Amino acid sequence: MENSQYAESINNIIEFYDNEPSNLLQILLKVQDKTPAKFISKEVGNYIAQKLNIPSSKVSEVISYFDAINTSPKGRYIIGVCNSTACFANGYEKIGKVFENELGIKMGQTTEDGMFTLKYTPCFGACDIAPAVRINNSVVGNLTPAKVSKLLKNLKGGGSNE
Ligand code: FES
Repeated sequence: MENSQYAESINNIIEFYDNEPSNLLQILLKVQDKTPAKFISKEVGNYIAQKLNIPSSKVSEVISYFDAINTSPKGRYIIGVCNSTACFANGYEKIGKVFENELGIKMGQTTEDGMFTLKYTPCFGACDIAPAVRINNSVVGNLTPAKVSKLLKNLKGGGSNE
C-alpha cells in the first residue's frame, strides 16, 4: 500500500473489528466510508485480505455479492434508487427519471463535479415508505418529484438529506 496514512486508517478499522474475518463486511463498509471516492479498489481488497489472513478471493466474493460495496470511484453522495417490488409498485421509475433529469446524468453515472452517483439498487428494507432511495447511509422515502427536487437542492447546498 503506497499511501501509508491510508494503510494506517485501514489497520485501525481492522483492529477495531478485532482482526476478525467474520467482520469482513463491516470492515469493507467502514473502509469504503473513509475513502473519498467511496469504493474498494483491488489493491485495498488484497491488503485487507492479507491483514485478515484470508484469501483475496473471499474478499472479492463479498464485494461482488453486496450492492452497497463499490468497485469503482463514486460521487460524494451515492443515490441508490430502489427498484424492488414495493418501490416498483409505487412509481420508482418516475422518481428515477426525476433524479436523472435534475442531475443531468443517467443511472450508473456520476456527475462531473464528483458530487452525485446515481444507480438502481435492490430493496433495503424501507418498503413501508416506498418509493425510497438510500443516500450513502441514510434512507429517504415517500418520494414525490417535488420532494426529490427539494432533497437535491439541500444536498447541493451542503445540507443534510433529511
Ligand atoms: S422495495 Fe424498495 S425499499 Fe423495499
